[in-house]
Amino acid sequence: MTGTKNSWNKSSWKNCTALQQPNWPDETKLNEVLAQITTLPPLVFAGEIRDLKASLAKAVEGEAFLLQGGDCSEEFSRCTAPNIRDTLKVLLQMAVTLTYAGGKPVVKVGRIAGQYAKPRSSDTEMVNGEELPSYRGDMANSAEPVLAARIPDPQRLLTGYNMSAATLNLLRAFTRGGFGSLRRVQAWNQEFVKQSPMGRSYERQARQISQALSFMETIGIDVDSPQLKQVQFFTSHEALFLGYEEALTREDSLDGGWYDCSGHMLWIGDRTRQIDGAHIEFLRGVLNPLGMKVGPNHDIDDILSILERLNPKNEAGRMTLICRFGAKGIEKHLPPLIRAVKKEGAKVLWSCDPMHANIRKTDGGHKTRSFEDILSELRCFFELHWAEGTVPGGVHFELTGADVTECTGGARELADEQLGQNYLTNCDPRLNAEQSLEMAFQIAEMIRS
Ligand code: PEP
Ligand code: CO
Repeated sequence: MTGTKNSWNKSSWKNCTALQQPNWPDETKLNEVLAQITTLPPLVFAGEIRDLKASLAKAVEGEAFLLQGGDCSEEFSRCTAPNIRDTLKVLLQMAVTLTYAGGKPVVKVGRIAGQYAKPRSSDTEMVNGEELPSYRGDMANSAEPVLAARIPDPQRLLTGYNMSAATLNLLRAFTRGGFGSLRRVQAWNQEFVKQSPMGRSYERQARQISQALSFMETIGIDVDSPQLKQVQFFTSHEALFLGYEEALTREDSLDGGWYDCSGHMLWIGDRTRQIDGAHIEFLRGVLNPLGMKVGPNHDIDDILSILERLNPKNEAGRMTLICRFGAKGIEKHLPPLIRAVKKEGAKVLWSCDPMHANIRKTDGGHKTRSFEDILSELRCFFELHWAEGTVPGGVHFELTGADVTECTGGARELADEQLGQNYLTNCDPRLNAEQSLEMAFQIAEMIRS
């Protein structure tokens, strides 16, 4: 069935084809877990979701800038205070760098507190001659390459909910409780980054900001105001497992609208954005800001129809198009899409994901991305928008605060042969903290106001 326009409810996606769902072996058990999640408290609140949408609406006009980033795939075993803190730290460092250069607010959205579900290009994979179900994220199965671990287990949905709650709890504590205060801008520099050229550039910039704050204080401006002491930080993930998303979808008592309270912003992957598919059907009815990944294999008319379906009132802040064409594909694919969207008058926030079409496999067998390719796609993204007179309003990264060796290049010129030193990801390769900060400095150069 195609999603008929007038009959949305939080279960209406079940009438459409849902791609990329785990093959849960026991439907009764799945439904029991989902029923339980339905009774549990929402993870985020409708009012926060509305705040994020309003901030994104500003970014559409170029009055703010979206920074979205985090793991490709969060892992239950890495849901620890140091990991959460370090990811938050690097995002705050990047944000302050971009704010300082661009002179406009940076909307901070983590790929965090719920990024546990992954689409895969194939249902199964061959490991040492054995065909195993693919790893679909910790909320479905385990990455461990043995058959028993790869059978999807619905109990993992509940664990995912609990881990998301624990992560959000710490993020809220950090961002409300003073850790995110601009006064601590120097303290966000991590030990292993401090010694690097990036760390030193950051230190210099942080010192200037601290001096500006001291000056304000000297002349009697209140620097302990919430604007400086607290930071607004939002969560996002790919809305992939629709049973889980439905279970956290709640009607807001204030505006009577439906909100998917599993995260503030949700995105639709490049593999699940079929106009008649279950993902579009589900997401059209919730009021969250939505991202949509757009890769090289898209049809422009199709994208326009999806925008109309998901955002019939053409509300700014509702839709973010997260383009991922690759350093080699962006010049071909982005301008026609920009022109079509502009001609249609569709209000979208243009964001660049320079990660997902720049993947390569090394001779040593590591899936990696090079800093140069990522930066090159970003540069083109900005330049193409400027040439078209549209707003390059955001960026989307896979990154971590940890000192991993998953992407090559950067100031330390990490080589293919060094990837094995600390390659931790179960999914796509992430920029480490130093590479992330370097990327922020590079973007800062481009957007310097
Ligand atoms: C992702 O963001 O991890 C992802 C799978 O992206 P895409 O849908 O763009 O391939
Ligand atoms: Co990824």
